[in-house]
Amino acid sequence: MSSLIDSLRQICGAEHVLTHDDPSTDLSAWEHDWRKRVFGKALAVVRPASTAEVAAVVKACANTFTSIVPQGGNTGLVAGSVPDASGQQIVLSLQRMNAVRALDPDNLTMTVEAGCILHNLQDAAEKAGFLFPLSLAAEGSCTIGGNLGTNAGGTQVVRYGNTRELCLGLEVVTAHGEVWHGLTGLRKDNTGYDLRHLMIGSEGTLGVITAATMKLYPLPAAQLTAWAAVPSMEAAVQLLGLAHQHLGAGLTGFEVMGQFALSLADKYFPNLRVPLYKETPWCVLLENSDHESEAHARNQFERLLEVAMTAGCVSDAVVAESIAQAKGLWQIRESITSAQAQEGLNIKHDISIPISKIPAFVAATDALLLREMPGVRLVDFGHLGDGNLHYNVQAPEGVDDQIFVRDHEDKVNDLVFESVSHFKGSISAEHGVGSMKVGKLPHYKDPVALAMMRSIKQSLDPQNIMNPGRVISL
Ligand code: FAD
Ligand code: MLT
Ligand code: ZN
Repeated sequence: MSSLIDSLRQICGAEHVLTHDDPSTDLSAWEHDWRKRVFGKALAVVRPASTAEVAAVVKACANTFTSIVPQGGNTGLVAGSVPDASGQQIVLSLQRMNAVRALDPDNLTMTVEAGCILHNLQDAAEKAGFLFPLSLAAEGSCTIGGNLGTNAGGTQVVRYGNTRELCLGLEVVTAHGEVWHGLTGLRKDNTGYDLRHLMIGSEGTLGVITAATMKLYPLPAAQLTAWAAVPSMEAAVQLLGLAHQHLGAGLTGFEVMGQFALSLADKYFPNLRVPLYKETPWCVLLENSDHESEAHARNQFERLLEVAMTAGCVSDAVVAESIAQAKGLWQIRESITSAQAQEGLNIKHDISIPISKIPAFVAATDALLLREMPGVRLVDFGHLGDGNLHYNVQAPEGVDDQIFVRDHEDKVNDLVFESVSHFKGSISAEHGVGSMKVGKLPHYKDPVALAMMRSIKQSLDPQNIMNPGRVISL
């Protein structure tokens, strides 16, 4: 292996190939996942600075049958971006490839390198007078390469779609170390199979994304945020229907949060002052983006809330009076993941169900879990506008979280996934499969689809060096 390490050092520069040989180098940040569920050991962490360097690294690895784990911000929640424990996989970190290569205002596109941090991309777009709408709580550290790798969702999907819908072109280094120059920026191109869509969401198993051309949108004239207390999940779904009807394309966010999830946000972030949650089982966060004016947005919101209250699907509501208040409401929503982690280790789910079936799913699955495991605490929240729930399970009060997860994770997953399957949903809406759901996928994915996925993987990566053991097991 030392000859591989020597080659990698020649390609990227010695200071950008980190190994355990140097006792003063701490690789742990690249070796464990954000939730600290998986602790791996890398042969090396390699940090190329250009597409040519990525291609040369992949070729050197292919020549020695060395597997590669692409990594961006390492904020993934399914342990897909960290090496296994063998000490034989390299972590290919894209962090140094973080340039904005071009912004084309007439084409409404921006071309960025894979390691560009999402927040920096949003900022660059805004400075040029545009909106890049992908938004998630990890945006200060996740990268666009990771967003594409996972086809991330986030809080604006109800209007703008997943990362997939925002991408018009890719540059990719294949598993053979060749470069596919696909940064077209075209909105229409019917010249055969859409390889861009194959790469997006492939979680580093088919190639390395080195750059992407992303869509830009006009900045709205006003963005208003409202927080509504709703008496049931049925009422939340009814409110969603009314919001579509009254706000049309202005509806850019529709997030639901259960009372227990909000109590954790309140417990760990008391300065955020969570409104209305104590008297109601669910709260909803709505965002209205308006291209006319703030007054127009406010009128629309007030009309919507009036109708919703008359219909009985909202019991109380507040509309943010300032940008600071709106940010504060979003911060509450975005603090839930962190609050939940501080409460202790938990079993996370990232599921989607047809929106119309979500109330029945929640009622049935809550009852099932509480019957099988009395006292479990359900941290439910998520992107109701997209039918995507984070249906998370926390140990009963006073029970050791590590022991609970160790002893119950498999059973909880089976109960939840069976219920998801019954309601014709998906076991991953946005986080992906990674290594955490790879064993479950064959039970829940159509066998013909699975076979096609397998042959695509074998054909594009015959040596199985690209993030092996993630998404699909061969
Ligand atoms: P990483 O974690 O580094 O990698 C993720 C996957 O992509 C891995 O399989 C990796 O191998 C692959 N990959 C990374 N870079 C590349 C590349 N250049 N080419 C090919 N493959 C690559 N996710 C959502 O979808 N919606 C949310 O609302 C959301 N909220 C979050 C909130 C918090 C607090 C946290 C911690 C995470 C959240 N996530 C969310 C999960 C995570 O942020 C996303 O999955 C994000 O897209 C990962 O980006 P990353 O750069 O950190 O990727
Ligand atoms: C979110 O919507 O906040 C994320 O997907 C993170 C999570 O599931 O905890
Ligand atoms: Zn989410």
